[in-house]
Amino acid sequence: MSKINMNSEIKKIEKQLKKEVSSADHTLNDTSHHLLDSGGKRVRPLFVILSSQFGTKVNDESYRVAVALELIHMATLVHDDVIDKSDKRRGRPTIVKKWDQPTAILTGNFLLARALEYISSIDNQAIHTTLSKAIVEVCRGELFQFEDQFNGKQTITNYLRRINRKTALLIQLATELGAMSSHSTDETVYRLKMIGHYIGMSFQIVDDILDFTSTEKALGKPVGSDLMNGHITLPVLLEMRKDANFKARIEALHAESEPKEFDAIIKRVRQSASIDESKAISQRYLDKAIQLLNELEDNHAKVLIEKLIHRMGKRTA
Ligand code: IPE
Ligand code: IPE
Ligand code: MG
Ligand code: MG
Repeated sequence: MSKINMNSEIKKIEKQLKKEVSSADHTLNDTSHHLLDSGGKRVRPLFVILSSQFGTKVNDESYRVAVALELIHMATLVHDDVIDKSDKRRGRPTIVKKWDQPTAILTGNFLLARALEYISSIDNQAIHTTLSKAIVEVCRGELFQFEDQFNGKQTITNYLRRINRKTALLIQLATELGAMSSHSTDETVYRLKMIGHYIGMSFQIVDDILDFTSTEKALGKPVGSDLMNGHITLPVLLEMRKDANFKARIEALHAESEPKEFDAIIKRVRQSASIDESKAISQRYLDKAIQLLNELEDNHAKVLIEKLIHRMGKRTA
């Protein structure tokens, strides 16, 4: 298979994304472009294209899947910002903030529908079934997150189950469907699926660490947003296990707690050893991904995936 140039692949996908989010309806057109133009790492389409390189027949279907998964990702972000009442995303006002809640909900629905429309021409039932089942699970993940807001009694297992659904599944879909779209063997599809799973778990753990350790400028939203929204993530859960006083403070937190209590807890978590412990757990997932990657046949994409994995482990935004 001929070598791919990631920059030109991304350009091709960006062009198609622009087309897909365009609408004769001015509001949907403006809201969708507002989000698309604010950037984003385009991690999911990259993994689709890279994973498609292990098959026999890379074709239009891989691009369709790549574009569709970024559209679905965008839809989940818009809805996530409604649920979290977030004002900022990627350094810009969120759709819910700049427009209003109904407009944001409809934009999310629109992006999801556009994704489904765009892949409807793919004549492979397994791709559609795998995709729709995963979207159902992503919804459940977001629901669990909502139900566990300010729930100081949750376990690390609850947390891992939740991030598997809300984040890892979409990255797992990228590697799995990427491989399926190019007619890879069942064994390769399975390996790539698991690679995506491990990368996805690590990805969300890093996201949760950065929410404490990064800056508002790099994050594009305020530091500590997760805790202020009641999302109890890995660094907090690890710290709770070590210190009964801290545990009691987290259990007492609620949406109307004093801002200075949130600030104090955020500062405490940021300076704690639980940050490095969370990083180590994230790294363990990446190591598993690399281990599985090594079992795949050598090709040019393998090196690129490995580079991408290392970059993701070190990311600061
Ligand atoms: C943000 O995903 C939501 C998570 C699942 C952590 P990304 O970090 O991929 O967001 P963008 O697309 O690059 O902004
Ligand atoms: C979002 O996770 C996951 C989905 C969008 C389904 P986060 O809530 O951590 O994402 P950010 O931090 O708002 O980007
Ligand atoms: Mg969020
Ligand atoms: Mg986050």
